[in-house]
Amino acid sequence: MSFVRFLGTGSAAPEKVLANADLEKIVDTSDEWIQTRTGIRERRIADPGTATSDIAYDACVRALESASVDPVDLDAIIVGTVTPDYLFPSTACILQSRLGARHIMAFDVLAGCSGFMYALQAGKGIIDGGNAKKVLVIGAETLSTIMDFQDRSTCILFGDGAGAAVLSESDTPGIMSITMGANGSQWELLYMPGGGSRIPASEESIRNRSHFLKMAGQEVFKEAVKAIESSSLEAIRLADLTPDDIDLFIPHQANYRILEAVRKRIGLPVEKVFSNLDRYGNTSSASVPIALDEAVRSGRVKKDDKILISVFGAGFTWGAAVVNW
Ligand code: ACO
Repeated sequence: MSFVRFLGTGSAAPEKVLANADLEKIVDTSDEWIQTRTGIRERRIADPGTATSDIAYDACVRALESASVDPVDLDAIIVGTVTPDYLFPSTACILQSRLGARHIMAFDVLAGCSGFMYALQAGKGIIDGGNAKKVLVIGAETLSTIMDFQDRSTCILFGDGAGAAVLSESDTPGIMSITMGANGSQWELLYMPGGGSRIPASEESIRNRSHFLKMAGQEVFKEAVKAIESSSLEAIRLADLTPDDIDLFIPHQANYRILEAVRKRIGLPVEKVFSNLDRYGNTSSASVPIALDEAVRSGRVKKDDKILISVFGAGFTWGAAVVNW
């Protein structure tokens, strides 16, 4: 019987730090408000001209190194992102060329903040189907490029970064369960109006600030808590485990109040939840793979630990997985 395992992880973020105190100079907000409502202290922001593939490349190199895999041995590259370098070609194709991979399949998935989990599911499926042995999955964002720095309700939340993982066919269990979902009926609660075929770029779209992320924060908050709780419990059930069996929970790093609400509902102790939200803010598709990489490198994850990861994002989309490390 064959399984799919994580062979290695890597992450990267721009050097430039935007602290809450810096945002106080840009919008009417305060460090105290941001920390109390979100748990965020600072986030990383890319320099102008830095694109998602630039940050992702560094994360990929680190993941390949930690997996001891040469780029020419990859069979697929999948990127989850809402901030691709271009609408087309895919950021995955740009990475394929930069990494020096063979002419393997390479594509992006657009699933809001759930992009990494959707990429993970696609990568696992390609391996399960016998079409690949090693797949590089990535979650990468340059969210600062779609932030409205006149909108204090959103610009304080998000940051830039990338995380990557090498998946491999394996004789021993790795990904024990994955559950995914989407509900498009509430798409307008979190979206970017401009730049697609509905509202192409025009002087008017720029005047209307249509090329920035829009979000109804409170509604998103409620849906995120419900979806992360139910998908996490479902992933635990599908893995034939109980919450007590989970060694570490790595949820989408959106808001510490969401993390806390979900943790309590699932019934996990504080010490079993990993969070780096205070240092990165919400990095959308990159949030779980960056956190996973930090958890692994800091020794929080040990061999055969049962890791629960879960995501939620625009669409709405969501997903959770249990991994035997
Ligand atoms: N600084 C100071 N005041 C602010 C700020 C700010 N940055 N932003 C909003 N306020 C004000 C509002 O204007 C409002 O003022 P009013 O009462 O005079 O109208 C007041 O603070 C309260 O606003 P709320 O929106 O009710 O604040 P809330 O407690 O809901 O917190 C927040 C807002 C942090 C956005 C919260 O709703 C949230 O985290 N939602 C989830 C968002 C999220 O995580 N999205 C991502 C998930 S999916 C994905 O990752 C893409």
